Amino acid sequence: MSETRQMRHGSSIGQPVTRRDGLLKVTGQARFAADNHPAGLLHAVLAVSRIARGRVAALDLPAARAHPGVVEVMVTANRLALALHPDDKSVPFSFKLDLLQDDRVRYAGQPIAVVIAATLEAATEAAALLAPRYEAGPVEVTLDAPGGYVPESVGVGDPGEMRHGDVEAGLRAAARRIEATYETPLQFHNAMEPHGVVAAWEGDALSLDMPTQGLALTRMRLAALLGIRAEDIHIRSPFIGGGFGSKLLSGPQVLGILAARLVGRPVKLVLTRAQMYGPVTHRSPTRQTLRLGAARDGALTAIHHHVRTATSRHDDFLEPSAGVSHTLYAAPAIATTNEAVRLDTGTPGFMRAPGEASGSIALESAIDEMAHACGMDPLEFRLRNYAEVEPVSGKPFSSKALRECYAEGAARFGWAGRPLAPRQMRDEDGLLVGWGVGTATFPAIMFQAEARAVLRRDGTGLVESGTHDMGQGAWTAFAQIGADSLGLDLDRLEFRAGHSDLPNAGIAGGSGHTATAGGAIHAAGAQAIARLTEIAVADPRSPLFGAGNVGVVARGGRLLRRDDESRGEAYADILARAGLDSVEGRGSAAADPAAAERYAMHAHGAVFAEVKVDPELGQIRATRLVGAFAAGRIINPRLVRSQYYGGMIWGLSFALHERAAMDPRTGRVMNADLAEYHVPVNADVPSVEAILVEEQDPHVNALGIKGVGEIGITGTAGAIANAIWHATGTRIRRFPVAIEELG
Ligand code: MOS
Repeated sequence: MSETRQMRHGSSIGQPVTRRDGLLKVTGQARFAADNHPAGLLHAVLAVSRIARGRVAALDLPAARAHPGVVEVMVTANRLALALHPDDKSVPFSFKLDLLQDDRVRYAGQPIAVVIAATLEAATEAAALLAPRYEAGPVEVTLDAPGGYVPESVGVGDPGEMRHGDVEAGLRAAARRIEATYETPLQFHNAMEPHGVVAAWEGDALSLDMPTQGLALTRMRLAALLGIRAEDIHIRSPFIGGGFGSKLLSGPQVLGILAARLVGRPVKLVLTRAQMYGPVTHRSPTRQTLRLGAARDGALTAIHHHVRTATSRHDDFLEPSAGVSHTLYAAPAIATTNEAVRLDTGTPGFMRAPGEASGSIALESAIDEMAHACGMDPLEFRLRNYAEVEPVSGKPFSSKALRECYAEGAARFGWAGRPLAPRQMRDEDGLLVGWGVGTATFPAIMFQAEARAVLRRDGTGLVESGTHDMGQGAWTAFAQIGADSLGLDLDRLEFRAGHSDLPNAGIAGGSGHTATAGGAIHAAGAQAIARLTEIAVADPRSPLFGAGNVGVVARGGRLLRRDDESRGEAYADILARAGLDSVEGRGSAAADPAAAERYAMHAHGAVFAEVKVDPELGQIRATRLVGAFAAGRIINPRLVRSQYYGGMIWGLSFALHERAAMDPRTGRVMNADLAEYHVPVNADVPSVEAILVEEQDPHVNALGIKGVGEIGITGTAGAIANAIWHATGTRIRRFPVAIEELG
């Protein structure tokens, strides 16, 4: 076999192929949920509460119903019965839903009625005619609210309190001590595509166009709520315009489904941008106090990371910000504690790197402050406290190329020239220049998934898995894994995804989608190849006859003897001779408890930031970001780099832009739109570079993948804050950093 031919038939894993859906996206042909308009479609619009606590005393239903074009107004009285209370959370990753179950209001923006009309305009106008009368109670919506409690757990089962070693003794023994409190803001998801649904009932079967990060979970939750069979629910979710953790199932989507049932017609319900600040979860604000102690040589003696955060009055998710302190730095004593307050807001939830994003800001800022207190370069300080094993658990890492991340990132950035003291560098325009570093980390998580793979007699292959592409390029990465596992060139592979009738692909969350669904696809392909191999090696007419012991290699649509690759034959010939149209494999993947017991499994990275600050105005620009990340095996470097860019830009947003301002008197978000809720636009984004650091992990999962979706957001905001300090000598501990703080 010639060199070129071998290259052409090489594995597609690791190749920087372009997105399979790229052309559809840039030409506007990709059809998102709300682009569907089945015959007879009606439009539903939510009416939402303007108060944050109390009850709806009256709605002017006659006025709304009399509006031209209105078909029905759905309220508590005529909402169809559910099989399960909306507060039931028995399906994993569920949140309590607001489905018009009563007249109570739990937060501003909660749905209180659904107007269904012939046009969007008629429904919108009629919703405004409902003129709700409220009985409002007093509200608490900030972390300054009195009280608070110590939660048993935060996030999804992180301990509320964790102590390793004696922190107080470690602090007493320290030559240097710092204590500082950092504040991170309330944030909302702001996906480009708002949550919505196009729902159509056919008898008891339900057909849905609806973006979801978890087709099978969403179907399971809907089946339980509606009291119908999961097999009768068909969800199409081929494209998701951003999810960030918010797109499993939201209450308004269920209301759209109930509205369709009520009127006996297909219904489309899409949230307005303002309504995206209500019933779809958010990231709660945090106030984090870090107490660090270090010996004279810079070795940390103690880390105490205390978090005060909030959840809703009625549900329980808490941002697990302190988790990063379990992992990142070696210290003989580490404690993390949480306290929570219940507020009159919607329930917070998973929002990109929940915990790590907010927590790493505080930890990375504090580490920087301690490095300065010790008179050390912040990168040298981090290396001085490098965790060779996971500090709290004592487990070895399944792999950890963080040292290489520091080295490659620093070299690329030019860190070596950095003056130790702040306020030493200026650019040609007289702007203050500062350089900062932050460490990035995110756990390698696995869920459960299944997949099906088929080799066909025409030499093509098919892989099916109900996976989710929310912009990250999942279609492409999974097709690459599928083609590799079937030994096919990528253009010979058909990949079907984004539909709930396909095998359960788990969720696109926790940065675990590629590892999990990819693992299932890999296993399914391997089984199909094993079946084909059985047929070939048992057939005296095949050149592979008797090769069972030496084994075979599958490549370029051919099976080859492992000991002599010149002897082999095409899949199509094997199938044809056996009189088969196809051969099928099924595979699954799940977390391996034994590996998790033995190893700490995390991706790591180092982010270097340059900022320029106007010394008179305090205006801050991030001018350069270099991130170096080690996350195990890279399926597609082009897509992965794009994930890192996106993550780092979100980190920039965290540092300098994003903040939801909630009126403490009313509990309403005052900047519930993309004009005033700031996210970085192109002009705000500096030069961003991502370095893919080589890392091989034999333990984490079958493919050695750690996940790349969320890690980029961690480390970055801390690096920027540290660069601001280095530029100005002023340490800002409230995020996003505001111009007035530097005045
Ligand atoms: Mo993400 S917060 O795991 O969708």
